[in-house]
Amino acid sequence: MFAACLTSAVAVAVVVGPWPCLAEDDCVECDMKMLQLDAKVSDRAKALRQCGHLTQATCDPHANYPCSNNCPIHTHGHDCYRPVTEVMAEHPGEDGYCYFNQTGFWVSPMASPEPDFMASSVLGILNLRALPVDPAAGYPLSYQGLHTGPVLTYHFEGKIITTQADAPHYSYDDLYGYSLGYLQGQGLSSDLVRNSSAWIAASKQKCDEIQQTYNFQNHELVLADWLDYNAVISAKVACAARLPAAGDSAVLEKAKFKSVDDCEPVTARDFAKHHYIKCLLGYPNSASDGAYLNVRACLLDGGTRIGHFTDCPFSPDVSF
Ligand SMILES: *[C@@H]1O[C@H](CO)[C@@H](O)[C@H](O)[C@H]1NC(C)=O
Ligand SMILES: *[C@@H]1O[C@H](CO)[C@@H](O)[C@H](O)[C@H]1NC(C)=O
Repeated sequence: MFAACLTSAVAVAVVVGPWPCLAEDDCVECDMKMLQLDAKVSDRAKALRQCGHLTQATCDPHANYPCSNNCPIHTHGHDCYRPVTEVMAEHPGEDGYCYFNQTGFWVSPMASPEPDFMASSVLGILNLRALPVDPAAGYPLSYQGLHTGPVLTYHFEGKIITTQADAPHYSYDDLYGYSLGYLQGQGLSSDLVRNSSAWIAASKQKCDEIQQTYNFQNHELVLADWLDYNAVISAKVACAARLPAAGDSAVLEKAKFKSVDDCEPVTARDFAKHHYIKCLLGYPNSASDGAYLNVRACLLDGGTRIGHFTDCPFSPDVSF
């Protein structure tokens, strides 16, 4: 996520933790959000075994996007700089989102091994809508309702696809869902989201297909790099949509973003790798990501347009 705020990313199923406040005006909302999130965190903490956590109360300020890399202040931070494959092999059966809890703001363990993916998707939709907006990224407003945002045209992997970005994070999440093949109309029915074991199995299959296609090597699968690259993906998404990119100079340099006319668009491989780390951290986590991407959007008009909510065969029980 994150076009503006960066966001996203992430297809974030559940967002907790210190909330990035990007402007003075946002902070009343942020404070309220933090209160609500604190309540949720303590409920959930009761139901969970002890997870990895931060060693201080606020996020590491050196991250390239607020709360997106807390490795230097995390109880398992030393493992951020090794391949996730090796770390998880040393912790069989553990949830990687618990082990690396809050290394990035989207890394947050679910309470149950048989999660309600419909509920986690709705929570993800609402949390992402409420993210503060960075006007510098060309989005003056947060979510105002269905069909209220700018129409974007992506140039992606040789195809031209449009979407209506009703919130800043749509630019990332719509193309991410399309690229992975998780949108409605790309083969996976939203009916399956309600059956957690079946949905996790579908996610595992998607993960296996990704690795068959891309054959990611261990050195490419380092958690800290994954955290830092999220903002880079966001800038490369902006390039694909010919939008101004948000991000600090290191992010823009890594994304090779000089201007909307001189930049490097995001690739299917970038998105696949972002998702594949979630697979390695546990199939319920990749499944949660996939559920969120599926229930919120669909591919229409012969594969040329992405729609949302009532544009789609299935629309979740959430106001829009
Ligand atoms: C996850 O980390 C946050 C931040 O340190 C902490 O407040 C929370 O209790 C942790 N969650 C669990 C389930 O341990
Ligand atoms: C859920 O999916 C599994 C297959 O993964 C199937 O055996 C089971 O009957 C399904 N449950 C429901 C309630 O449909």
